[in-house]
Amino acid sequence: MIRDLIMGNRSYRRFYQEFIIERATLAELVDLARLSASAANRQPLKYILSCDHQRNALIFPHLSWAGYLGDWAGPSEGEKPSAYIIVLGDIEITQSFGCDHGIAAQSILLGAREKGLGGCIIANIQRQELRKALDILPRYKILLVLALGKPKETVVIETVGSDGDIKYWHDSEGRHHVPKRPLSEIIIS
Ligand SMILES: Cc1cc2nc3c(=O)[nH]c(=O)nc-3n(C[C@H](O)[C@H](O)[C@H](O)COP(=O)(O)O)c2cc1C
Repeated sequence: MIRDLIMGNRSYRRFYQEFIIERATLAELVDLARLSASAANRQPLKYILSCDHQRNALIFPHLSWAGYLGDWAGPSEGEKPSAYIIVLGDIEITQSFGCDHGIAAQSILLGAREKGLGGCIIANIQRQELRKALDILPRYKILLVLALGKPKETVVIETVGSDGDIKYWHDSEGRHHVPKRPLSEIIIS
């Protein structure tokens, strides 16, 4: 079952924007992150939730989507995420967040997937602009933005070919293809 969940937990970048995600649902997802592993159990992560149109509109312009798809500027109106969870690091707790935010992101996205939702981890963020737009205090380092919604795209997992190209791509029917390296390549000993 965990394999099915992980197979379904792709990076989705197009959504049914009109689909509503309640704030309580986002809080439930953050609770999964709260219960996840944290280096030295310092638990330095804090979160900003957004699921209303006005706040979503303040976040979206500061995110960069799918760098390998040069001809795609990101989701268009009607296909934007319904919600966001912004993952922050509280520098009054520690200056070093290790991989806490990656673990938190995965917990949140797997939880979202179990609820029939999907999302994308965004690290390519115009941080200064986002900080200004949401009035985020200097105490909080912006680590990741998790975009969430009801997915409106098909993602196909395939094996990296002999050319070694790992770039994801879109086919003529708009399906998103993601090459993954084979197990035989990544287990080295
Ligand atoms: C740390 C991290 C940062 C990422 N940042 C971005 C990003 O800024 N924009 C984006 O569109 N996708 C981003 N992604 C999504 C990756 O592109 C995606 O995971 C990869 O293409 C593999 O696809 P998959 O998640 O469906 O396996 C990020 C993923 C990770 C783990």
